[in-house]
Amino acid sequence: MLVVLKRDYREVGFEAARMIAATVRKKPAAVLGLATGNTMMGMYEELARLHREEHLDFSRVRTFNLDEYLGLASSHPRSFHSFMQGHFFTRVNVAPANIHIPDGMLSGGYEQYCDSYETAISAAGGIDLQILGIGRNGHIGFNEPTSSLASRTRVKVLSAGTMEDNRRSFGAGEKVPECALTMGIGTILEAKRIVLLAAGASKAHPIAKAIEGPVTASLTASALQLHPDVTFILDEAAAVELAQKEYYRRVLEMTAVLTPARL
Ligand code: GLP
Repeated sequence: MLVVLKRDYREVGFEAARMIAATVRKKPAAVLGLATGNTMMGMYEELARLHREEHLDFSRVRTFNLDEYLGLASSHPRSFHSFMQGHFFTRVNVAPANIHIPDGMLSGGYEQYCDSYETAISAAGGIDLQILGIGRNGHIGFNEPTSSLASRTRVKVLSAGTMEDNRRSFGAGEKVPECALTMGIGTILEAKRIVLLAAGASKAHPIAKAIEGPVTASLTASALQLHPDVTFILDEAAAVELAQKEYYRRVLEMTAVLTPARL
């Protein structure tokens, strides 16, 4: 596990974009696992700039999003489809046929649909680089506390706290979705490489638990400790509760010398 400590939200986005760009330059048909949320906006902004100004080419890239609200049409302004279109897909050259986001308008046949999402990931050769954010309760994707650490893509009922967090992006009186379709922890752990971004004081507690606490389904990001190639990119506020910051700095310095390809 690598922990990269950055000053602020902006630097977190730059660093994540740099890692994605390096992956795509090395493997133009890379399979990217993508995430939504405020934390991701700076990263997508920088990727759009790299495409515009430095010709970073996404034409052969395949993408799989982590999750989507159940009950929202892709055209709904709060759907993750809309988020991805607005912040990323309309600003770069990913081929529409290469974009995969769970269908929030599904009504029945959930298991079959979720199995087909898993099959599509496998058929693409698996995810090369999975990008993650983290919820205040330590969830990744929408894998709420007590999700099986072996879970696959499925329908998940959202916790009251997560619905409360989500309510902020919905209008007053608008119904906040109670369920989502999400990749499982087992799905996420099969990615070849995982990068989790976190910024802001509200993430300090789940980040400390995810990195330095026990592996537990009560905080699903802690399952990342089981993966051989995970990088956490954190700003100062999100890193404030970590006990071993100095060690992470030294590890990073030595990694740059010994195995620079990991960065
Ligand atoms: C939702 C998403 C997560 C995301 C989290 C944090 O719960 N399902 O994938 O990591 O929000 O969002 P934000 O970056 O806005 O704090």
